Amino acid sequence: PRFVALVPAAGSGSRMRADCPKQYLLLHGKPVLWHSLKVLHTEPRISHIVLVLTEGDPWFARFDWSDLPRLQVLYCGGASRAETVRNGLANIASNTPDDPWILVHDAARPCLSRSDLTHLIDQLHADAVGGLLAVPVPETVKRATLDGHVAQTVPRQDLWLAQTPQMFRLRPLLAAHQGVLDTITDEASAMERQGDSPRLITGSRNNLKITYPEDLALAALLLPAADP
Ligand code: C5P
Repeated sequence: PRFVALVPAAGSGSRMRADCPKQYLLLHGKPVLWHSLKVLHTEPRISHIVLVLTEGDPWFARFDWSDLPRLQVLYCGGASRAETVRNGLANIASNTPDDPWILVHDAARPCLSRSDLTHLIDQLHADAVGGLLAVPVPETVKRATLDGHVAQTVPRQDLWLAQTPQMFRLRPLLAAHQGVLDTITDEASAMERQGDSPRLITGSRNNLKITYPEDLALAALLLPAADP
């Protein structure tokens, strides 16, 4: 089967309190987004990368993307991450008769390692459903009351943090994105709603999502200094 990457990058990144969306902040002199795309681009099994931006995105054109020739850019981002993904999937589906694997990867995860990406594909390419990179929750988790007291300590032995890439077949994934999308924050939950049970592939904590200002400094430390 073929493998296509889909990168939703239509978020505004309000938690970042920055002047531009977080995917365009600089990391080692390149936009965060460039790093997230670069690692996908180094995987030879991925035929091309579909990037979904907000209509009228003024930032993308300010940078040089010429070292990523397998990049295809769409300006059809939605109001939520799930809507952006659905729009991207619909575009891919209308241009291909087959049912490739889709690897959905956050624009804001620049520290994905090549080895985690390779491992994900190796583990899932023959799977019936697909799955995602994830790591066990390392800290003690509390459920809180509305007034900020502990209501319950949640056992963490069976809790995982979902990362990306998340890898599913195009047509089931698109079908899973046809209903209400308000509460969906990753592709796996869309599949779960359809009754599927995605596989968890152990990744690494370095694959962090840039969300808060301090995450950028951490990502700069974690990124390999010279990635050939
Ligand atoms: O905001 P959050 O960190 O959850 O965003 C995760 C990813 O989803 C980012 O790559 C962001 O650009 C993308 N996104 C999107 N369309 C939206 C909201 C978020 O493509 N409407």
